[in-house]
Amino acid sequence: MIQYHAAGDWARALIDLPRPLGIVLTMGAIHAGHIRLIEEAKDECSSVVATIFVNPKQFGVGEDLNNYPRPISADINLLEQSGVDAVFCPSVDEIYPESFSTSIKPGGPAFRFEADQRPGHFDGVSTVVVKLLNQARADRAYFGRKDAQQVAVIKHVLSDLSVPTSVVVVPTARDRDGLAISSRNQYLSDSDRARAINLFRAL
Ligand code: PAF
Repeated sequence: MIQYHAAGDWARALIDLPRPLGIVLTMGAIHAGHIRLIEEAKDECSSVVATIFVNPKQFGVGEDLNNYPRPISADINLLEQSGVDAVFCPSVDEIYPESFSTSIKPGGPAFRFEADQRPGHFDGVSTVVVKLLNQARADRAYFGRKDAQQVAVIKHVLSDLSVPTSVVVVPTARDRDGLAISSRNQYLSDSDRARAINLFRAL
């Protein structure tokens, strides 16, 4: 599996991969949920690639941008073992050079719920997803149903902006107790975790 850091090299490398090409966008801290997306992509596509980019634009003031887990070597090993063909690990400057000044402001499902708690979050998600998909020109992008509002926003934005990558939604991967697997679960104390599974029970 080759790692790319420069957008130009990445875009050129993907042109030669057998189609259909599937992509899994991640912020790293790879876990069983990401592996499930990769497996689904491998079932349906001739090539599968991934990105690792902790997108500063989707973190609000006081959120965990600086502490967000970045176990890069472990991530690369996991992606390699899961059979990903190539991975893009750009720097923040590669994605947002000094001259970068465009932002996508999604409509439709980008109101209420998480948007109320995290103002600007879906602007940041939409901007980076469109940029990463435009660079890769993949046929299918795989997202987890766990982030239900994010999936709805991404589908809406890609349709509005005629981005020609189809969205494939993959069922939520869960731990044995039913908790949806997430990179941020490591922040939960034992008592938080015990309370969190009530969400699954309620569903
Ligand atoms: O779901 C995530 O990990 C992120 O929001 C995404 C889609 C990779 C964009 O940064």
